Amino acid sequence: KAGDVGDRLNEKVYVVGGFVRDLFLNVENWDIDLVVEGDGIAFAIELNKELKGNTKLYKEFGTGMLELENGKTIDIVTARREYYEYPAALPKVEKSTIWSDLFRRDFTINCMAIQLNKDNQGKLIDYFGGFTDLKNKRIRVLYNLSFIEDPTRIFRAIRFLARYNFSLDEETKSFMEQALGENMLSKLSNDRIKEELVYILKEKSLSESLRLMQDLRILSSINNNLNISNEIIDKINSIKSYQDQFKDIFKDINIVLVKVMILLSEVEAEAINGLLDLFCVNKEIRSKIYNGLISKSKVYELLVEEDLDKYCLYQSLHTLSREAILFYYIDSDNAYIRHYLMFYTLNLQNKNISITGEDLKQLNIKPGPIYKDILDYVLEAKIKGLVYSYEDE
Ligand code: CTP
Repeated sequence: KAGDVGDRLNEKVYVVGGFVRDLFLNVENWDIDLVVEGDGIAFAIELNKELKGNTKLYKEFGTGMLELENGKTIDIVTARREYYEYPAALPKVEKSTIWSDLFRRDFTINCMAIQLNKDNQGKLIDYFGGFTDLKNKRIRVLYNLSFIEDPTRIFRAIRFLARYNFSLDEETKSFMEQALGENMLSKLSNDRIKEELVYILKEKSLSESLRLMQDLRILSSINNNLNISNEIIDKINSIKSYQDQFKDIFKDINIVLVKVMILLSEVEAEAINGLLDLFCVNKEIRSKIYNGLISKSKVYELLVEEDLDKYCLYQSLHTLSREAILFYYIDSDNAYIRHYLMFYTLNLQNKNISITGEDLKQLNIKPGPIYKDILDYVLEAKIKGLVYSYEDE
């Protein structure tokens, strides 16, 4: 349909970037980016008439987004004409507009386009050797200053290397090292670094990314306290098997939080807060991670006791997130600790009582701090197995 709309408006239209890359890699990808040589806004409006989604238009930038009913989105950008001045008397030369659009991108494998217009439908536009690099499993930049111009590409390279198990082209590696040597990462705000790190955290290949970042000394150049041991990388690598093993017990948890806790598990307490600026997207996540990390030694101290009281176990864990519980389970190899964590998760974490302050009022007990004492006492009795029903309570 995009091709038809392009034909109607007499504009060339291409699908570009990650979609094309993943098409050749046979990887599912529904992030569709279209480039239109012409008027992207008019194109977005026309295409939306066919697809019947919602449009978001950014007229100043000539870009638009279609949100389709099935939740998928299509991004549309207008390719701009660029003129290259030759010295002396030679005339200006107009580069093909799709060329200019592709040239400003990061790696050759992301710089391919496929034309959608009927006459050239399926024609691959590959000015920079992206297809060969895909075949050779190689990440390569288009020009030497690529990482200097946009240091976030250092993280993007890591992400693609790890995700597809590709290798870094030698020359590209030297450009990256040069940018790192010039401390280009310090030019990025914490928020931009965070955005890239969170992308990396969400990938399945996190342990491989960490290995690469350690080898290239990327993490320590972001923050001295961010030194990831091989042991941590192994634990990160093991998360998947725990997820499979406990898929019913720990479903609906945010696994990224567990990953961050493992990553920061060897960091000194005083340094944790500074590092959380690089990993946490909101306050709630931040406090879950912080509490999980800060409480770890206290929890471990308690959970190595042989005959731990159930209520005591409940009290030590119930204010912590379920992500923290799974983190402790992966982090600790002590059999007692693991036993108690599992017992708590299976038997205690959802324990609660049925009576409320209302019931106490009915019994003519004067409201005050005593309410909390009574309710806590009843919960303790319930956890210890002394009361079962509402009547008992
Ligand atoms: N891009 C770039 N430099 C960046 C970010 C993006 O050149 N710093 C370009 C790349 O060509 C990329 C395209 O913009 O293909 C779209 O970016 P994005 O959606 O972030 O990346 P994808 O390649 O689609 O990667 P992913 O599969 O992780 O979404």
